[in-house]
Amino acid sequence: MTAITDFVSYQAEGSVGVVTINNPPVNALSVGVRVGIKGGIEAANADASVTSIVIVCAGRTFIAGADIKEFGKPPQSPSLHEVIGAIEISSKPVVAAIHGTALGGGLETALGCHYRVADKGAKVGLPEVKLGILPGAGGTQRLPRVVGVPMALQMITSGAPIGAKKALEVGLVDEIAGDDLKASAMAFAQKVVDEKRPLVKISDRDDKLQEARDNPAMFDEFRKSIARKTRNFEAPENCIKAVQASVDLPFPEGIKRERELFMELMTGEQSISQRYFFFAERQAAKIPDVPKDTPLIDINTAGIIGAGTMGGGIAMNFLQAGIPVKMVETSQEGLDKGIEIIRTNYAATVSKGRMSQDAMDKCMSILSGTINLEDIKDVDIVIEAIFENMEVKKEIFGKLDKICKPGAILATNTSTLDIDEIGEATSRPESVIGLHFFSPANVMKLLEEVRTKKTSKTVMASCMALAKRIGKIPAMVGVCEGFVGNRILHRRSEQSTNLIMEGALPQDVDRVLFDFGLPMGPFAMSDLAGNDVGWRIRQGKGTTSPVADAICELGRFGQKTGSGYYLYKEGSRTPTPDPIVEDIIMKASKDAGIERREISDDEILKRCIYPMINEGAKILEEGIASRPSDIDVIWVYGYGWPIYRGGPMRYADSIGLENVYKTLLEYQEKFGDEFKPAPLLERLVKEGKTFAEA
Ligand SMILES: NC(=O)c1ccc[n+]([C@@H]2O[C@H](COP(=O)([O-])OP(=O)(O)OC[C@H]3O[C@@H](n4cnc5c(N)ncnc54)[C@H](O)[C@@H]3O)[C@@H](O)[C@H]2O)c1
Repeated sequence: MTAITDFVSYQAEGSVGVVTINNPPVNALSVGVRVGIKGGIEAANADASVTSIVIVCAGRTFIAGADIKEFGKPPQSPSLHEVIGAIEISSKPVVAAIHGTALGGGLETALGCHYRVADKGAKVGLPEVKLGILPGAGGTQRLPRVVGVPMALQMITSGAPIGAKKALEVGLVDEIAGDDLKASAMAFAQKVVDEKRPLVKISDRDDKLQEARDNPAMFDEFRKSIARKTRNFEAPENCIKAVQASVDLPFPEGIKRERELFMELMTGEQSISQRYFFFAERQAAKIPDVPKDTPLIDINTAGIIGAGTMGGGIAMNFLQAGIPVKMVETSQEGLDKGIEIIRTNYAATVSKGRMSQDAMDKCMSILSGTINLEDIKDVDIVIEAIFENMEVKKEIFGKLDKICKPGAILATNTSTLDIDEIGEATSRPESVIGLHFFSPANVMKLLEEVRTKKTSKTVMASCMALAKRIGKIPAMVGVCEGFVGNRILHRRSEQSTNLIMEGALPQDVDRVLFDFGLPMGPFAMSDLAGNDVGWRIRQGKGTTSPVADAICELGRFGQKTGSGYYLYKEGSRTPTPDPIVEDIIMKASKDAGIERREISDDEILKRCIYPMINEGAKILEEGIASRPSDIDVIWVYGYGWPIYRGGPMRYADSIGLENVYKTLLEYQEKFGDEFKPAPLLERLVKEGKTFAEA
């Protein structure tokens, strides 16, 4: 065996030259790998003893993609283009042997080969769009030539990989391997030689492009079909344009066009934010003061107290991860109802074809219920999800302390209560933690984990690992009112309420925030969640909010009652502005002695967003979040902040902290101290730094 580089070796095995890539963990295409592949192909071509070549990877996967750490750095030779070019012009047939995942640059490399043989468990795809870019090493030009335009558009704009079986069906791989991938690929290579098959380069093919040449309207139809899902994203449009170039232009011209479209995205703010977020998400899973080797608590069973909205959703996550759940309710009737809702939810998923009946049966078979709290004495984790009341929660935790086995994790799903205080209701506050799921808990990705002053490192580390197991994205925060997500949300709610009192209408505020990229504005969101929730909280606290209260007094609780800030036609979720609401708002302004004025979209946006950023700065200063990027993860996964704007803190960095600071000062002068810039923001501006550099 000859080592071409530290990561790639070459060996003639009989008449097949085998180029092996070994760059753990995922065989990313770092410069050493690129040099090695090119060298390996050259060595095989120079080796008179071989007639064909196989590229295979060691470890758990084929090349899983580009080396994202090289992004934004000066390019090092050879480029992936050159490597793929070297493979394609090989005078001996080259076969890619694919196992694990061939993604991005990995699949592009495989597309430079003359043939592809895949393990039956392999997945292939071009996920670049998820980082706000497009496959820039010929992927947009070669893939349509192999699988046709409709399939290529689908794969490239969604970024979703396909399995080996599907890949075979669409012609992306030529054969599914037997148990020994390398042997199968070598046998396939030998067959190609024996049958004297012509050396067809994908770049020379255009048979699969004909369908799109005959029907150029397919591009616009495709645009329309993904418009809603890709709203405001720049990358999918450039992906479509690049695929269009594969049809309209000769291959070399198409490659040039792909490059232009790639560079446009690569240097744009959206992809910078999306790539930032890729790392933010991975970092959020690490807690700075909790060492990597912290021992973990084995979690094999869960007890969930409260089979209501949240308890049911939370249970589904555990069941789907194969963790048996015992639900506790106060009455048999409540328990049956809760379990029935879970069953109905699963049945709906099965009927939509998104879950097999078998999988549903498995989930239901590990779900049980009780009305006796003592029955959860042996579980490894308890998650309390009863209604929001401190005294009742403390009572439950006091009981859990006596019932549960030593070392069990005692978690609460509270969204507002002081978890330190809940912990003190037990003799083992180190076992107590907040696991703040978002509604609907079986769908929303975020898990805001809340550590108290006493939560042990083992409990924190175990809950981080648990999040991954149940398919959630975790971020660890500290205790404060609303924790990180809702505390920031409250600043926006205050401003949206003020804005409608001063001159805007709900539809103005909602439109501006929707156009900014959020899934919906604050008023549509309140109608969705139920306006009565806030009303009850205000009544409990003895506070008022003139417009919101007047709306609730009319029984306008939102979508569920057919009206709220908006009107909803029967069975529809589309909000229609309502003159009655406008009258309520006018009256509220008048009663408060406010002379209404025209408020620009720019002001609406800044009034809503900048106080959120300012609150984020305070949260960082207080050590409630460990990193600005954790706040961003919470807002992207918990509230639908557009990923192409990175999150509120990344957004602030992108528009310049000085701009945020100056506007806050101006608003402080006009509207009061609620806009007073946080000391951290002020310091960063003085030092010319960003949040990321703080
Ligand atoms: N709904 C949300 O959007 C949301 C989001 C995040 C967190 N939370 C928090 O989750 C918790 C639950 O909220 P929810 O919306 O699911 O409430 P819910 O009213 O839908 O469900 C609460 C359930 O707990 C049961 N329960 C009450 N006391 C109990 C006891 N002693 N033992 C066993 N069961 C008992 C009730 O019968 C009810 O079924 C609250 O702390 C809330 O703040 C709610």
